[in-house]
Amino acid sequence: MHARSLTILAFLPLFGTFAQLPLAIPPALEQDTFLLDVQEHTHQFYPGVNTPTLGVNGEYLGPTLIFQRGDTARLRVHNGMSQITTMHWHGMHVSGDQDGGPQRVIDPGTDWNVKYNVANPAGTYWYHPHPHMLTGTQATRGIAGMIIVRDDEENSLDLPRTYGVDDIPVVIQDRRFLSNGAFVVGPYGDSLLVNGTPHPYIDLPAQVVRLRLLNGSNSRVYRIGLQGDSTFHMIAGDGGLLNAPVPLQRIDLSNGERADILLDLTGLDGDSLLLMSFGSELAQSVPGSDNILWETSALNGIDFPVLRIRVQAPTPAPVTNVPATLGNALPIPENTAVRTRVKTITGNGMVGMGMFLINGLSFDLNLINDSVQLNATEIWTFVNNSNMAHPMHIHGVSFFVLDRNGIPPAPEEAGAKDVVLVNTGETVRTIMRFDHPTNGYPYMYHCHNLMHEDHMMMLQFIVTDQGQGLTDRTKGASIHAFPSPTSGTLRYQATFAINELVLTDQLGRVVVTRQVANTKEGFLDLGSMPSGVYVLSLRGSGEVARSTVVRE
Ligand code: C2O
Ligand code: CU
Ligand code: CU
Repeated sequence: MHARSLTILAFLPLFGTFAQLPLAIPPALEQDTFLLDVQEHTHQFYPGVNTPTLGVNGEYLGPTLIFQRGDTARLRVHNGMSQITTMHWHGMHVSGDQDGGPQRVIDPGTDWNVKYNVANPAGTYWYHPHPHMLTGTQATRGIAGMIIVRDDEENSLDLPRTYGVDDIPVVIQDRRFLSNGAFVVGPYGDSLLVNGTPHPYIDLPAQVVRLRLLNGSNSRVYRIGLQGDSTFHMIAGDGGLLNAPVPLQRIDLSNGERADILLDLTGLDGDSLLLMSFGSELAQSVPGSDNILWETSALNGIDFPVLRIRVQAPTPAPVTNVPATLGNALPIPENTAVRTRVKTITGNGMVGMGMFLINGLSFDLNLINDSVQLNATEIWTFVNNSNMAHPMHIHGVSFFVLDRNGIPPAPEEAGAKDVVLVNTGETVRTIMRFDHPTNGYPYMYHCHNLMHEDHMMMLQFIVTDQGQGLTDRTKGASIHAFPSPTSGTLRYQATFAINELVLTDQLGRVVVTRQVANTKEGFLDLGSMPSGVYVLSLRGSGEVARSTVVRE
């Protein structure tokens, strides 16, 4: 066990040789200022096996943050690690400077103070790091937590909402361990952890209970259901309540997706139920299936338990019915969209890596790929011409699925979302309104398979109220602006002859415009400008390209 080999620990005893452990429930925080302390730790997931972890206020994962819609959330993130990080509020409708994307670096030993208005409807959201090429590593080792937003509309419904009693966070992650206890950062694990607990069980009261499911895994897709195919009700997806509970026997959960489900345990005192993932039912194009062309794992293509539920006596004031109706979120009418952008995914890769491209492009930290007019409604169409399904995610918004290969979404997919699984050969149209500006820190859109994300299957966009002139980067046109950060002189080079240069600041205001005499390169002096992030746009006759630049 202590040998320093790369042998993989065979933690396979899914079916009984290991004792079941009580499901860990992350502490719930409700504070004026949330303090999130990210540190390196060691944790024993298995007795006697020390696993180096990263945790937020604890050894593994982080607290559940409880927000009230309309309030101001104030957060202080301390980076106590020896490498950079960022903290992203996945699904939250916040502006780019608050969003915690790769540009919003928190250096080791420093704090990031951020506050934002909680604009999202009641629902289940989450937070995780987003540093350039390090998201998979840091998330694997344990930085992630749940956010629960509450609001008056949801409070008026008779739903379970006593955290840890009838309202349970269920963060599902697969992990692979080396024989020295360390995590393997990779697409698949062979052990399942729920809230960091292997082989978990929970005692739940014999009444209607809510599970807030979150797929916090790197690459694996889960097909969740109950053993024996009993019916449960889905009441909320990524972006809040559905309009009515949807009775289901299965719900697919791709990376980053959430589903709030109700289980009616009324009268079942003393019974025991098993929440399962039915991996044997996944299509071959979906990570987690037994597709033998890809990486392997003991959990691939099989049905395995996620959480054992032991039913106990009901609580004093139980919820005993599944409500007939829930929210009234209206899908955004298609005819309000001012623009359609088609995002075509190509590539032939593995679950853990590969060159998957979006419109032929991969991530470049210094390139803005799209610019969107503030408050515009747009349709983004994902076309998957690659060899596997990709969970596509967009920052800053919730979207609605208009259709999947022309067919309107199933009821469980008809609510507000921020991740959508786009399978091989599928065309998925989504619609959204961009009502927060990026303020100099671009939003990302990317595959939420963290291995693909870190392998550059990600692009970035800005949202400004200065849409005019800020057209997209022209295909094939690119620029290089350096050094960035700079304390003065910035040098730029373009693949085309430039005739105009525009520099905009964090608020999207134009601070420099200059006519340039058909040259492919030049200098710009930022010495007199305040420090911050700027966007340099260069135009030729027909070409446009831009780059973010940082003035120290
Ligand atoms: Cu869950 Cu770009 O993130
Ligand atoms: Cu996100
Ligand atoms: Cu992908």
